[in-house]
Amino acid sequence: SPAKKVRHFLDIHQHDTAALRGMLDHAAVLKRSKGHAKPFAGKTLALIFEKPSTRTRVSFEVGMRQLGGEVVTLTGKEIQLGHGETIADTGRVLSRFVDVIMLRTDDEAKLHELASCATVPVINGLTDVSHPCQIMADILTFEERKGSIEGKVVCWSGDANNVCQSWIHAAVRFDFELRIACPDELRPTDATLDWVRAEGKGKVIVSTDAAAMARGADAIVTDTWVSMHHADGERRHNLLKPYQVNEQLMALAKPDAIFMHCLPAHRGEEVSACVMDGPQSVIWDEAENRMHAQKGILSWCLNT
Ligand code: CP
Ligand code: NVA
Repeated sequence: SPAKKVRHFLDIHQHDTAALRGMLDHAAVLKRSKGHAKPFAGKTLALIFEKPSTRTRVSFEVGMRQLGGEVVTLTGKEIQLGHGETIADTGRVLSRFVDVIMLRTDDEAKLHELASCATVPVINGLTDVSHPCQIMADILTFEERKGSIEGKVVCWSGDANNVCQSWIHAAVRFDFELRIACPDELRPTDATLDWVRAEGKGKVIVSTDAAAMARGADAIVTDTWVSMHHADGERRHNLLKPYQVNEQLMALAKPDAIFMHCLPAHRGEEVSACVMDGPQSVIWDEAENRMHAQKGILSWCLNT
């Protein structure tokens, strides 16, 4: 008989809108419920971090435990991955012990290798090219404040990085307009923009003009100038300076527009302190919603 299809959560664009909606609806229900349901009782989640994390680690650990599950966290060089055991073999072994695996890795290929060899669901906890769990939390946060994101306008100002890539996937699946303001050399890839055109839903515009992209937006979003996989340097800072989210840029958006950032953030670099700590900022809700969104994702992966 054909192998049962394993429910991986590797990228937003690999799922249809109904499945993604189901995860978010479930997340919202779990967020509201104060009860003691333990749907993950007897289940164990393994978290593998090849890069540092605060939010992803704590939100997965606490979320899994709140719903009755157990967690094992493996970081950096303390596991055999750092000593030449392939990620595929690690995946085969972990599948004998745990029910679901999250991986944060520097290399997209490792995520796919793990998913192809693991017999339990694999969740993408950030790679150099995408961060789907973050954007699920971001959609939840946006909709709590502004209602359905369908048809709304989200402006990304800054490096069109891994987080931006998942926003692009979301624009298509949730059918909204994403306006990306970025320097030419930090644009989304042509392959991603070709995918958007082929899907024919959502709208993604790319420009070097931050003011033009921010005008009339429902949300302005940014991220660090220097992601974990980038070398820091004056050149990046100079390239990205015109894309700082500050009061002048926020003033171009709708008066009730929200400011979003996946964190960690750097006041005075990609965002001014006034905006980050100001009344339009929803960043702390966004961080909290990582946990709620991931409960929805875990429930889908575990089919509970
Ligand atoms: N936003 C986010 O993924 O944060 P961490 O790197 O702290 O997990
Ligand atoms: N773009 C950032 C996101 C961190 C959560 C990075 O990759 O470092």
